[in-house]
Amino acid sequence: MLTQIVYTSRPRFDPTGTSGRKTLDTILAAARRHNAESGVTGFLMVAPERLAQILEGDAVSVGQTLTRILADPRHEAVQLLDMRLVPERTFSGWSMGVTESAGDPGARPGGVNALTAEDFVRLAAAAANKASN
Ligand SMILES: Cc1cc2nc3c(=O)[nH]c(=O)nc-3n(C[C@H](O)[C@H](O)[C@H](O)COP(=O)(O)O)c2cc1C
Repeated sequence: MLTQIVYTSRPRFDPTGTSGRKTLDTILAAARRHNAESGVTGFLMVAPERLAQILEGDAVSVGQTLTRILADPRHEAVQLLDMRLVPERTFSGWSMGVTESAGDPGARPGGVNALTAEDFVRLAAAAANKASN
């Protein structure tokens, strides 16, 4: 079994601005390098007010990755939504995918805060599927 976690956080950069995009690119480059080495896969959903990320891999690698992410000053208010065992990867082949248009979750009743871990996995899986087609 593999460990899959879902967390949300608040970016301390503006992903829609020029300097924020550079920050995001730097984060993704480091994420892909480390994840490829440690066998971690996943997806990052980016919105101006909120990030959501899914990480999957063996428990130790996911835990070490999360430990680094928790200490990263480029975001704050990290909330772990779910941690579970899964029989297989949902994001196989994605050392770290990214989407800025996983629907418009803010438009839902209750807003983005009403989304569950399952919602994020579903939205990211749809984005991954679309990107690989
Ligand atoms: C929103 C967010 C997502 C991140 N995702 C990952 C990730 O999936 N894997 C990873 O190794 N680092 C990730 N990082 C970066 C780590 O916090 C840390 O900066 C990096 O692993 C350190 O790598 P370096 O010392 O080689 O620069 C993320 C950071 C942020 C802010």
